[in-house]
Amino acid sequence: MIDVQSLTKRYGSATVVDDLNFTVEPGIVTGFLGPNGAGKSTTMRMIVGLDRATAGTATIDGKRYDEYAKPLHKVGTLLDAKWTHPNRTAANHLKWLAAANGIAATRVDEVLDLVGLTDVAGKKAGNFSLGMGQRLGLAVALLGDPEVLILDEPVNGLDPEGIRWVRDFV
Ligand SMILES: Nc1ncnc2c1ncn2[C@@H]1O[C@H](COP(=O)(O)OP(=O)(O)OP(=O)(O)O)[C@@H](O)[C@H]1O
Ligand SMILES: [Mg+2]
Repeated sequence: MIDVQSLTKRYGSATVVDDLNFTVEPGIVTGFLGPNGAGKSTTMRMIVGLDRATAGTATIDGKRYDEYAKPLHKVGTLLDAKWTHPNRTAANHLKWLAAANGIAATRVDEVLDLVGLTDVAGKKAGNFSLGMGQRLGLAVALLGDPEVLILDEPVNGLDPEGIRWVRDFV
């Protein structure tokens, strides 16, 4: 379960997440909706420790993200598909993440196949189209076969086949 309690984020005088409380139950797909700029991405970043909360807590099955020694087994995230090093190939990007999380290298080929990137596994991620980058981001999220998936606009840039695939997969 994801448990968010009194979560607050301020940038200077601007409060972008204001005393937010919610839980996300396991085994169901939960949508997180709100207008542009409402603070959805900021909240998701705080759940995985990429932004520090000004106040409040966010835990996943009772622990903060940074308390998990091998977090990719617990939580897979797709928050910003553009953070890949541009000179790394798709396969190498996945390989270092796998190595850092004690995941077998064979899993890299599995997730590349799952997201339909096998043919471009040896190509530099920096030259990927928007949708290809998004698929690589999904591959990263799935790498540890995690219990929890947190996806921020996962179908952004995907073609119709990709959108259908994400929907079916989720
Ligand atoms: N690093 C930052 N410094 C200052 N303000 C920020 C920073 N990051 C986000 N914000 C502000 O926080 C607010 C919430 O942004 P956030 O990206 O969380 O919204 P969102 O709900 O994900 O929007 P969208 O639907 O457009 O993705 C916005 O007003 C944004 O300008
Ligand atoms: Mg957002």
